[in-house]
Amino acid sequence: MFALGSFLLAGLVCQSLGQYEYEDEYYMPYAPMEGASTPNCAQECECPPSFPTAMYCNERNLKFIPIVPTGIKYLYLQNNFIEEIKAGVFDNVTDLRWLVLDNNNITSEKIQAGTIDKLGSLEKLLFSHNKLTKPPSLLTKSLDELKLVANQLSSFPASTLSGMENLTSLHLSKNKLTTESITGAFKGLKSLVLLDVSENKLKKLPSGVPASLLMLYADNNDIDSIPGGYLTKLPLLQYLRVSHNKLVDSGIPAGVFNVSSLLELDLAFNKLKTIPEINESLEHLYLQANEISKFDLTNICKFSSPVNYSRLRTLRLDGNNVTHRSMPDDTANCLRQASEIIFE
Ligand SMILES: *[C@@H]1O[C@H](CO)[C@@H](O)[C@H](O)[C@H]1NC(C)=O
Ligand SMILES: *[C@@H]1O[C@H](CO)[C@@H](O)[C@H](O)[C@H]1NC(C)=O
Ligand SMILES: *[C@@H]1O[C@H](CO)[C@@H](O)[C@H](O)[C@H]1NC(C)=O
Ligand SMILES: *[C@@H]1O[C@H](CO)[C@@H](O)[C@H](O)[C@H]1NC(C)=O
Ligand SMILES: *[C@@H]1O[C@H](CO)[C@@H](O)[C@H](O)[C@H]1NC(C)=O
Ligand SMILES: *[C@@H]1O[C@H](CO)[C@@H](O)[C@H](O)[C@H]1NC(C)=O
Ligand SMILES: *[C@@H]1O[C@H](CO)[C@@H](O)[C@H](O)[C@H]1NC(C)=O
Repeated sequence: MFALGSFLLAGLVCQSLGQYEYEDEYYMPYAPMEGASTPNCAQECECPPSFPTAMYCNERNLKFIPIVPTGIKYLYLQNNFIEEIKAGVFDNVTDLRWLVLDNNNITSEKIQAGTIDKLGSLEKLLFSHNKLTKPPSLLTKSLDELKLVANQLSSFPASTLSGMENLTSLHLSKNKLTTESITGAFKGLKSLVLLDVSENKLKKLPSGVPASLLMLYADNNDIDSIPGGYLTKLPLLQYLRVSHNKLVDSGIPAGVFNVSSLLELDLAFNKLKTIPEINESLEHLYLQANEISKFDLTNICKFSSPVNYSRLRTLRLDGNNVTHRSMPDDTANCLRQASEIIFE
């Protein structure tokens, strides 16, 4: 198959938001040579002859989806003013693989039956920054990436993603999802690696998440506790972000972070009064802007001895009531890899 990479320049916009950089993937328009397009291409769009299965209709002030000719598998419609997906638009391309609709004005009511729900081979559906109140109904089981960031989703029926054994990344941040509205939504997604439910209205971490997850982002919600044993069901999880929530000490059961897979744990901007117990394999612990007033080394260095030490490299404690002087004398031995311990 033709190397997609040369046409799809996945740019990375790095916004510095807190301690890590959010990578906002976007799809750059491919600029073919002047006038070059295959004969059947919609006149508003471009279909490079060297990549005839792609149609680029992005940034064209479109109000409607143009006629999509037979043979197109990659369809780019982002950054337009589309409000509606009319019946029949995809009739000749039911084997569409990628559909990019980011940055339009589409509402759930205006997605007609017989459109997205007819696409049985869809692998990527990028539908961020629209006005959806519920996820589009999908026929495909072959989806590998679904992005519905910054819509107005308040419901997410449990059946939406059923049978999608190849779904690896699911972005649902910046919506209005509640704990109840996502109940059962992630069951059976046995390839899911990334789940982003940040900036919603969750009171709890999502339940029934697949054991395949490496990254779980749930920052900026209303979560006050982490259930005991939650992480033992996620044996591969490396990144857990629960910053900007309402976590309190009583919501952190003993040993809940005692798992050796975790590399990054972000608990910043919560209401914790003590440093939670962690495993020595954790590398980055973010606790800034909590209510910690004691540097309790025992929770970080349970095992400390000349040969046993913490792998912690970053420890942020700024915005708490602790200073360098709060650090016990034996800190250096245990935290010998910590190049960044930040107090203020
Ligand atoms: C589908 O293709 C047929 C034959 O080329 C054409 O007549 C029809 O208008 C097309 N439909 C759409 C919705 O593009
Ligand atoms: C969406 O619609 C609103 C008005 O309803 C308008 O202000 C806005 O510019 C539109 N945005 C896009 C991307 O079409
Ligand atoms: C998942 O991917 C595998 C390997 O590419 C493929 O054989 C299988 O059909 C896919 N499953 C679905 C439901 O599309
Ligand atoms: C952490 O878990 C390991 C293995 O699961 C166990 O051996 C160890 O005692 C636990 N540590 C604490 C402090 O509970
Ligand atoms: C960290 O996890 C490993 C592997 O499960 C375990 O052997 C070790 O005891 C844990 N450390 C602590 C401090 O519980
Ligand atoms: C290192 O710590 C583990 C517990 O995490 C303990 O079982 C082991 O005996 C310690 N090893 C040494 C040499 O202190
Ligand atoms: C901050 O810590 C100091 C000394 O450890 C203590 O006297 C003070 O009450 C603490 N302040 C708050 C707001 O917890």
